[in-house]
Amino acid sequence: MKILTELRARFREVLENYDSDVEPLLDMIRPSQDARFGDYQANMAMPLGKKLSRQPREIASEIVSAVNMDDICSQVEVAGPGFVNLTINDQWLTDQVNDLSNSNEIQIDSVVQPKTFVIDYSSPNVAKPMHVGHIRSTVIGDSLSRVLSFAGHNVIRDNHLGDWGTQFGMIIYGYKHFADEDAFKEKPVKELSRLYRLVNQIIGYWNAKSGLDGAQATIEQRAAAVEQARDAVGAADPDDKKSAKNLKRAETQISYATAWLHSLTETIESTEGDATLGPIVGSHEQIGTAVLTETAKLHNGDEENVALWEEFLPHCRADIQKIYDRLDIRFDVEYGESFYHDRLGPVVSDLEAKGLTRESDGAVCVFLDEFETPMIVRKRDGAFLYATTDLATIQYRQETWSPDAMLYVVDHRQGEHFQKLFAAAAIWQASETELQHISFGTVLGEDGRPFKTRSGDAVGLEGLLDEAVARALDVVTTNDESKPNGAELTNEQRAHIADCIGHGAIKYADLSHNRTSDYVFSYEKMMALEGNTAAYMQYSYARIQSIFRRGEIDIDGLRASFSSIALEQPAERSLALTILQLSEAIDQVIEDYRPNHLTNYLFDLAKRFSSFFEQCHVLRAESETIMQSRLLLCDVTARVIRTGLDLLGIRVVDKM
Ligand code: ARG
Repeated sequence: MKILTELRARFREVLENYDSDVEPLLDMIRPSQDARFGDYQANMAMPLGKKLSRQPREIASEIVSAVNMDDICSQVEVAGPGFVNLTINDQWLTDQVNDLSNSNEIQIDSVVQPKTFVIDYSSPNVAKPMHVGHIRSTVIGDSLSRVLSFAGHNVIRDNHLGDWGTQFGMIIYGYKHFADEDAFKEKPVKELSRLYRLVNQIIGYWNAKSGLDGAQATIEQRAAAVEQARDAVGAADPDDKKSAKNLKRAETQISYATAWLHSLTETIESTEGDATLGPIVGSHEQIGTAVLTETAKLHNGDEENVALWEEFLPHCRADIQKIYDRLDIRFDVEYGESFYHDRLGPVVSDLEAKGLTRESDGAVCVFLDEFETPMIVRKRDGAFLYATTDLATIQYRQETWSPDAMLYVVDHRQGEHFQKLFAAAAIWQASETELQHISFGTVLGEDGRPFKTRSGDAVGLEGLLDEAVARALDVVTTNDESKPNGAELTNEQRAHIADCIGHGAIKYADLSHNRTSDYVFSYEKMMALEGNTAAYMQYSYARIQSIFRRGEIDIDGLRASFSSIALEQPAERSLALTILQLSEAIDQVIEDYRPNHLTNYLFDLAKRFSSFFEQCHVLRAESETIMQSRLLLCDVTARVIRTGLDLLGIRVVDKM
């Protein structure tokens, strides 16, 4: 069911006579935006005309007469300056949609050359509960994994857990000084995250303290700069815009420094005034170094710290697993940073042996041409870094799976880390593996700022999911109670449906935004039954199932019978065409690793279904044959919706 692939295949041979690089030309065959221009348009005559200094229209006509499309297209027309408008042959379309309808599973032709992908996603730091920031990596990575395997690629899903970093030094320090044993026994992760926050706040306090002098000095310096700029304005000609601009800049600079000082004093005052923190901060001045020491001890095999780590880790992982179970997320491997520990020394030695490192201030660094600052792989005190682990991880993955590509689904703020990592990997290992940072933007609150709780903490993921499910239950209940013949669902059914809708809403809201943009998290919007939401797709699916129930249709039986789909009405034809474009949406997702191509597709499909349903009677069709044809069309639509949602990690329900 690959219309576009088929069209491109036909054009390929002919285009080779015009240009040796046909891929960009083939890329110019696309679905038409407007049905008046046929179903597909081929616009390559324009660039070819330019390149060959000939009339594009002439080239278009030549191409059209050379390409053999009689069986697929009912009309091939050269229009305007040289567009080629292609209208798919109704019979061919009908055959294609019947093929799909007759198959037990919605499938697309597998890629001709399957590749091996390692997808690094979710990858939370495990010492604290998952928060809203983790949703994006988790659902985008999961969806890309599903899409790539659906297309026939080989996918290794890897959860690169942060289970070894400084955050463990923090909770070990916290545990040694402030643990509440009973609380730990009762709810270990809750206690550990309390300790984590406590230690973090004390560190923040001492950082603020030590920043005071610097901030003060900066303010003085900048005050002097403002004075100077002011004098310059006084001395300059009144039209001299430059000195006025300088003054403005100096004033802005000082306002930044004042704001900075203000935030430091605020941190200090609020910590000292805090009932828990106030009495203890004073005795932990060295906390910053102490935490690093605890981390180093863990890494160097200190018995006590290793034992604590071994005690903490399973609890942390179990807590995270709960979220994965709710969201139906799975991994093939979850090595985590700790797994690579023994490889870090050898990685640095290997970099040294290859002459790729230089020492700077006692630290081992890889200098990279394109970057001002080097990538540090071992600190002066011997500690390895996040980047060192990532180099070891690349090496391990290459040895283990020889992947064609490694995708890192990680927050855009780590952009520079990955640029450096990929640059370092490129000079370290001659390898063809494509390394890609699949970057994404921030989840914002309704106020347009990063989504935080009132107290300024990251919003916990578990609470967020609970809230979504609770709101979905409201939607389901209201909807059910307002049904014309009274409510139909048991409480159990409502709860199950709410579970699918609530989790689906969160995933879909995330996936339907272009991943590189930020988006505003809004329960109302994501839960709406109309519009580009999961609920609308789930509703379209359920609506189709209810047609079958109302008509007491054995749809599997009908599919197995000799009935088939006929495309008589324009709305039927356009629905069928869209159904057959699933594989194009999949190709687009894979092209730039953006699942929102798939949500756009599903939204379009659901809208076309809705127009079909408005324009064509199904159960009250003009004849038995037409009814059967339309039922089958409904069924294949529903199955494509289900498949599409499944590729986004979203479940469907039969009733809503
Ligand atoms: N644990 C990291 C964090 O929470 C993300 C890890 C991403 N993957 C990687 N290979 N660096 O920021």
